[in-house]
Amino acid sequence: MRSSQTRQEAETRPESGLDIVILAAGQGKRMNSTLLKVLHPLAGKPLVSYVIRVARSLSPRRLCIVHGHGGEAVRGAVDASDLRWALQETQSGTGHAVLQAMPHLPGDGTALVLYGDVPLIRTKTLERLVETARGALAVLTVDLFDPTGYGRILRDASGRILRIVEQKDATDEERRIREVNTGIMAIPEARLGAWLARLSNDNAQKEYYLTDIVAQAVDEDLPVCAVRPEYEWEALGVNSPGELAALERVVQRATAEELMERGVRLADPARIDVRGDLVCGRGVFIDVNNVFEGAVELGDDVEIGPNCFVRDAKIGAGSRIAAFTHIDGARVGPEARIGPYARLRPGTELNENVHIGNFVEIKKSRIDSDSKASHLAYVGDALVGRRVNIGAGTITCNYDGANKYQTVIEDDAFIGSDSQLVAPVRVGKGATLGAGTTLTRDVPPDALAVTRPKTLLISAWKRPSKKET
Ligand code: UD1
Ligand code: CA
Repeated sequence: MRSSQTRQEAETRPESGLDIVILAAGQGKRMNSTLLKVLHPLAGKPLVSYVIRVARSLSPRRLCIVHGHGGEAVRGAVDASDLRWALQETQSGTGHAVLQAMPHLPGDGTALVLYGDVPLIRTKTLERLVETARGALAVLTVDLFDPTGYGRILRDASGRILRIVEQKDATDEERRIREVNTGIMAIPEARLGAWLARLSNDNAQKEYYLTDIVAQAVDEDLPVCAVRPEYEWEALGVNSPGELAALERVVQRATAEELMERGVRLADPARIDVRGDLVCGRGVFIDVNNVFEGAVELGDDVEIGPNCFVRDAKIGAGSRIAAFTHIDGARVGPEARIGPYARLRPGTELNENVHIGNFVEIKKSRIDSDSKASHLAYVGDALVGRRVNIGAGTITCNYDGANKYQTVIEDDAFIGSDSQLVAPVRVGKGATLGAGTTLTRDVPPDALAVTRPKTLLISAWKRPSKKET
């Protein structure tokens, strides 16, 4: 299976001679954002990282990114040793952009042009495009119900491609053409240099259009072939927040389908967001409106209630996370019961069968098996043993305004409600804290500590009454 797959790949992929240029110098004005367009996250990863990934899947000789003003941020986000960078100082058009990459291209293969803001194009489609470009110029096109804004594909009476005309340069009749240029092209490198050198910016946008190389190829009798993607979304680009949101739904839907194919039960595949990598065991159930970020692992039979946020976490088998729980940088379970309304912050490690209830916040603490904090508590910088009960309103006072200190609670301790443990402090094995204790010293094993003012009783107490006016 594997070896035949590899053989197939070797047959369809040109072994040598593929170079890829990713255009990413556009400003993305319509995003109206301080973040460069290609760095906007799609399912948690920058747009351009999808394009780099699909580019790598084709094993190109050269992988070059054309960046513009502020492009250092792009480089900072995705740089790797296989990437070459070309600066386009002025945004003078797609043809001008490709020209900047020319010094990186050996000149004897196929140059595949991708857009940094068209993230969902698939390897298979690009393989077909590159294959088509052997002895031809290959353009990826789609038919759009509303082609407004795109370059239109002009064909002659016999259906041969003649040229591409941009929206702004097109006549009314040309604008009625529904077949559009996606912008993705595979170009014989031997001709590219001469074609680019002949481009003119005598057009509506005063730009050097890469699309004008099509008419030049036709003049030179080089065939121009259109390749269509299997799915329309492969060719969708991001120019505005609305388009970004639309692609986000495409990706999320696909992720939901994949999860369900692997046996994960989703209450509603339209109401889950995975912004990273979610790995699930068997028998996992995920209720509606959950957001997963970063690397999240859910063990067998884990159930996630509605409206939870989970980032960079590992949830052990059989654990149940109830509604509105927030988990970030934590290891939980197995067999844990968390929430509703619990918050687990970075550095939290909960062993087997730990119960964390509503309005309990845990930070940088290890809690051992069978321990509970069921209501309203803050546990920070603590080491908690087994079978410990942390009462409602308990607070570890871990911070003196300058430094943080640790609280240690040993096995079988019982912390009465509304206690403050002023760290550094240790509660010995089996010790008890009476309700309302403010603990400022260590408690030996099996002892009771209680700090509580004696109750003052005054009989028949008269409360103040309002003055007559
Ligand atoms: C381009 C095509 C159009 C096609 C459309 C598909 C041209 C002349 N037009 O138009 O036929 O239908 O894409 O979306 O090619 N870029 C640079 N430097 C520049 C200009 C653009 O790097 O100077 C990059 C952008 O970052 C973007 C891509 O090239 O990734 C396309 O730029 P954009 O301005 O969106 O092109 P359109 O005018 O939409
Ligand atoms: Ca565009």
